[in-house]
Amino acid sequence: MWLMLVVWFAGAAAVLYSLYCWVIPSAVQYNGKLALLWHDVIVEHLLDTLTRTTRPQRLLRAVQKNATRNNPLSVISAIDDFCRHREWAMNVGDEKGFILDSVVNEVSPVTALELGAYCGYSAVRIARLLPPGACLITLEFNPDYAAIARQVIAWAGLEDKVQLVEGASGDWIPRMKEHFGIETFDFVFLDHWKDSYLPDTKLLEECGLLRKGTVLLADNVICPGAPDYLEYVRKSLSYESRFFKSHLEYTKAEDGLEKSVYLS
Ligand SMILES: C[S@@+](CC[C@H](N)C(=O)[O-])C[C@H]1O[C@@H](n2cnc3c(N)ncnc32)[C@H](O)[C@@H]1O
Repeated sequence: MWLMLVVWFAGAAAVLYSLYCWVIPSAVQYNGKLALLWHDVIVEHLLDTLTRTTRPQRLLRAVQKNATRNNPLSVISAIDDFCRHREWAMNVGDEKGFILDSVVNEVSPVTALELGAYCGYSAVRIARLLPPGACLITLEFNPDYAAIARQVIAWAGLEDKVQLVEGASGDWIPRMKEHFGIETFDFVFLDHWKDSYLPDTKLLEECGLLRKGTVLLADNVICPGAPDYLEYVRKSLSYESRFFKSHLEYTKAEDGLEKSVYLS
């Protein structure tokens, strides 16, 4: 009787474990909405409750354990490794990260702005490629995420190149000139909540922060999607826009980046 119970519990545990580790992740990886529901809602809440820590805290621990200090590439690969093999997280990720790298290299911005820092992954990706004397301003309105991002950026040794500003984009964009002495941005990476892409782009225009040739790069334009933003930059005569097909971070679901050059 006891042996039967032990066998039954061991079998049930094995089934649950394989559902959690392989079956469900494999089943959802081609569908962006299901992948986000599984990784970003169900698993995150489950692990937060079980471990009494947050996903950004667990990600930071993986960086401190596996990445070499002052080595941005090792920070990037420690986060990618954590997100591919342990826990998904909403960084731009390695696949779209290569597209981000190539655009940053092409623009070689002296002034760069990121909307949405989360744990600092894309800030590290961008900042390590900036030319000498250049600076990235990254905005994050969640104070817990901002605290983690600061530590990740410092671990990568890039705190001199990155100014992390805690607050909402809508509040900070109008203060960029007065507060940071920014004339215009050479490069803007939009990666905050998707319904803010369009209003913040219009705000950047109104505040005179875009110049002829400023490059906007917007993540997740397919998944979760930013249809109003895409329609705007693709139809407006003020932008020359191009889509880079890719996948939602750490999955095989369709996603991509939209690169839009401001013309006037
Ligand atoms: C997708 S994550 C950013 C990921 C990050 N760029 C990376 O690739 O490592 C989006 C982040 O934007 C932040 N956010 C959303 N709306 C914002 C706003 N209006 N102002 C500032 N931060 C915002 C969220 O708190 C979240 O941390």
